[in-house]
Amino acid sequence: MLGNFSYKNATKLYFGEDSLSYLNEELPRYGKNVVLIYGGGSIKKNGIYDDVLAILKANGKNVVEDGGVMPNPTADKLREGVKLARAHNADLLLAVGGGSCCDYAKAVSVSVHCDEDPWDKYFARFEEPDCEIVPVGCVLTMTGTGSEMNGGSVITNHDTHQKIGHVFGDEVMPKFAILNPRYTMSLPKRQMVAGIYDIFNHICEQYFSGEDDNVSDDLAEALMKSVIRNSLVAIEDPENYEARSNIMWAATWALNTLISRGKTTDWMVHMLGQAAGAYTDATHGMTLSAVSLPYYRHILPYGLQKFRRFAIGVWGVDAAGKTDEEIANAGLLAMEQWMRKLGVAMRLSELGATEDMIEGIADATIILKGGYKVLDRAEVIEILRKSL
Ligand code: NZQ
Ligand code: ZN
Repeated sequence: MLGNFSYKNATKLYFGEDSLSYLNEELPRYGKNVVLIYGGGSIKKNGIYDDVLAILKANGKNVVEDGGVMPNPTADKLREGVKLARAHNADLLLAVGGGSCCDYAKAVSVSVHCDEDPWDKYFARFEEPDCEIVPVGCVLTMTGTGSEMNGGSVITNHDTHQKIGHVFGDEVMPKFAILNPRYTMSLPKRQMVAGIYDIFNHICEQYFSGEDDNVSDDLAEALMKSVIRNSLVAIEDPENYEARSNIMWAATWALNTLISRGKTTDWMVHMLGQAAGAYTDATHGMTLSAVSLPYYRHILPYGLQKFRRFAIGVWGVDAAGKTDEEIANAGLLAMEQWMRKLGVAMRLSELGATEDMIEGIADATIILKGGYKVLDRAEVIEILRKSL
């Protein structure tokens, strides 16, 4: 049964090979001063920067650049970005990049007109914005996070060893997002692989919770099957537009709140992965893959019927002659084989984590209560040790 809910998605999407041209339709809605936010320079190599800048100039915008947004954007960078956007009297923050740029733009957007320290206000105290919010637009160049159509913003604080996400409301979500699957073709294979696993795990986080029959879980299964089917093609044949476009669209639907409607959700893989990320600064999707199987094998007995359904419905496990446990375990084995083929990190040690970090990572792990088992500290430590 579905619980009660409301649903609205505030972001307008433009999808496809000609989607950047719609920036011309969006820009006139905003004032003259635009902050162009981007990462470490990939957009300068693949030509996206030139194309975006040409459209900004043609629309008479007064552009200031805020480049150098790192993967896993930091609280220090955020503070600098707020100052820059404030000095420029920003009317629009245009993020051109992956989830890091888009998340960062949202965090800047709620802080430009706010006197308090952005980390303290939104990521330490989880307060909601109470000041004017600068609109955000996003030109997506990397697929995975779903940041293009959600209110999420994840910021890392290296001083406190914390990586924390704040899910903001409709008013902070990108006003528009431009998704051209071709842009993902210049991604290094490792980034694409990490993005694919991130998508898959977002779906799992919402699926592995609750026992009831609901349409959100049916949608989740369809998305998982599509990601599995298209993933290996997208990796082996980076120019395959069909596979890239299916992956990109699935990523958006995986985390634009649709498949969590009316049900509880888990999100513990993300809590464990983000804590590990705060210590290692590793690629987000890889931190998730490294902790997933030890976590899912740990909670399997508590959510046995859902893991059984996952095995049969998503992985096509033949149930004949098997116990529920055997079926459920066969599902996770099939998932493991897919992960190995894809080439994701299977251990935290591959990402630079060491035994002496385990206690600290456990301290940084936020315990959520929506999954099949509310973990205690000893279980967190056990899962982290098995992930190492
Ligand atoms: O910085 P540049 O030079 O642009 O290079 C980036 C970066 O090194 C590169 N890249 C992006 N597009 C490219 C490209 N290289 C070549 N060609 C292209 N077209 O890819 C690298 C990774 O980019 P990044 O934006 O960091 O990746 P992703 O999209 O995975 O974002 C990760 C961040 O999003 C957060 C993560 O925690 C992490 O901080 N998340 C945000 C979520 C949300 N808003 O809902 C949910 C997620 O679970 C996640 O936590
Ligand atoms: Zn994620």
